[in-house]
Amino acid sequence: MGPLSSPSSAAAESKIKAKQPWRCSPSRPAPSPHPSSSVRTAARTACASPPSPSPPPPSPRSRRRCPATTPPPRGTQTRTRPPLFLRPATHPVPASALAAFRRRAAALVPASAPHLHRHLRWLLADASTTSDSDPALFRAPLDHIESLWLGHVRARRPFQYVVGNEHWRDLVVAVKEGVLIPRPETEAVVDMVKGVEGFGGGWWADLGTGSGAIAVAVARELGDGGKVFATDVSDVAVEIARFNVERYGVQDKVEIRQGSWFEPLQDVKGKLMGVISNPPYIPTEDLPGLQPEVGWHEPKLALDGGRDGLEHLLHLCEGLSSALKSGGFFVFERDLTSNICASIWQTNGNKQSEFLVDLISSKWSSSFRDVKAVLDFADIKRFVTGYHR
Ligand SMILES: C[S@@+](CC[C@H](N)C(=O)[O-])C[C@H]1O[C@@H](n2cnc3c(N)ncnc32)[C@H](O)[C@@H]1O
Repeated sequence: MGPLSSPSSAAAESKIKAKQPWRCSPSRPAPSPHPSSSVRTAARTACASPPSPSPPPPSPRSRRRCPATTPPPRGTQTRTRPPLFLRPATHPVPASALAAFRRRAAALVPASAPHLHRHLRWLLADASTTSDSDPALFRAPLDHIESLWLGHVRARRPFQYVVGNEHWRDLVVAVKEGVLIPRPETEAVVDMVKGVEGFGGGWWADLGTGSGAIAVAVARELGDGGKVFATDVSDVAVEIARFNVERYGVQDKVEIRQGSWFEPLQDVKGKLMGVISNPPYIPTEDLPGLQPEVGWHEPKLALDGGRDGLEHLLHLCEGLSSALKSGGFFVFERDLTSNICASIWQTNGNKQSEFLVDLISSKWSSSFRDVKAVLDFADIKRFVTGYHR
C-alpha cells in the first residue's frame, strides 16, 4: 500500500502498468467487463513509489470478453452501491448537453494537470454506454456526473472513489470512501503466495482485507480445499469486501470475518498455511504530511501505523506463530509514504524491513526460518516474508 499519485504528479501518472487480459474461468462466473478496459490503464500509483528502473511495458488493456456475472444468490447481496459502470444506463443525455458538459469539465483542468483530461474520458466511459445515440444513455444524471467531476478536480477526491472502482491485477475492484484503494505494489503478494508449496489446498488469512482485493485474487487461484479468511475491523471494509467477493463469485472460497487481526480466527489457530497482511504502517506523525488525495479522503484506520508505523506490524508478528501451521508462510507489506521526501522514505522503508527481518529472526528464531525482505519492482524492500518452522 502506498498513497495515491497526486493529480499534479505527471511522473506518477506516466507509470502505466500493463494489465493481464480478463481471465474467464469456466468454473466461476466472470463479472461484467469494465467499459473502458481496452484503453484504461492503471495510472494510479503510490506516490511513495519512485519510478521503476524497469517498469512493465505500457500496453493497453485487452477488452474483456467474459459474459456478465451471475447475480449473487438472493439474501446475500450487500448494501454497497455498485460502481458507476455497473449501474443501469437509464438517464438520457442529449448530445448538446453532453458537449456543453465536456467544455465546462475541460475548462476546469489546470495546465499543470493534463492527466485530468484522461480521467474525464474515463469518467464518461464509465458513466455512459458506448453507443453513439442521441440522446446518449447515462448511468447517472449528468448533473451528478458533473458533481463527481468537481469533487475530483477541486476537492482532490481520488478518481477511484469518483467512479467507485480500481483496476487491480485482473480484477476491477469496487471501492468507496472508508476503504483503502488497493495499490499496484500490493499485487505482488498474490504471486508470492502462489509460489508456496501446497498453496492451492491451503487455508490462508488476509488480515486487514480492506476492499478484499487480495482475498479475491488469491481465492481465484485456489484449488479444492483452499480457502481465504479475510478479516477487517472496519464496517465499510467488510461491506465492500463482501461485495467484491460476491461479484467475483468466490463466496465458497472466501470467508469474511469482522474483528481485530487474529481475534476472529481463534477457531483456525495453528491451521493456516499462510498469513498475508498489508496493515496500516504510516507513522502517526506523518499523516498530516500526506498528499490531499490520501490524507483528506482515505481512511485513517487504514493508514495510521501508530508510533514509527510499526504498531500493527509488531502485533501481527506476535500472533504469527500460533496462527500458522508448521511450514506455514507469511508475507507482510510495509511501505514508504510521501513523495514529498521520497529519498528519506526509501531509506526508512529499507530500514523498516530490515528491522522487522532482524526482529523476527532474533526474537522468534526458534519459530521462523528464511525470514527476508523482498524487493518490489522499484528495488525497495517492501515485503517481509518467512516460514513457520
Ligand atoms: C493498508 S490497508 C490494506 C487494505 C488491503 N489489504 C489492501 O492491501 O488494499 C489496512 C487495512 O487494515 C484494516 N485494519 C486496521 N486496523 C485493524 C485491526 N485492528 N484489525 C483488522 N484490520 C484492521 C483497515 O481497516 C484497512 O482495511
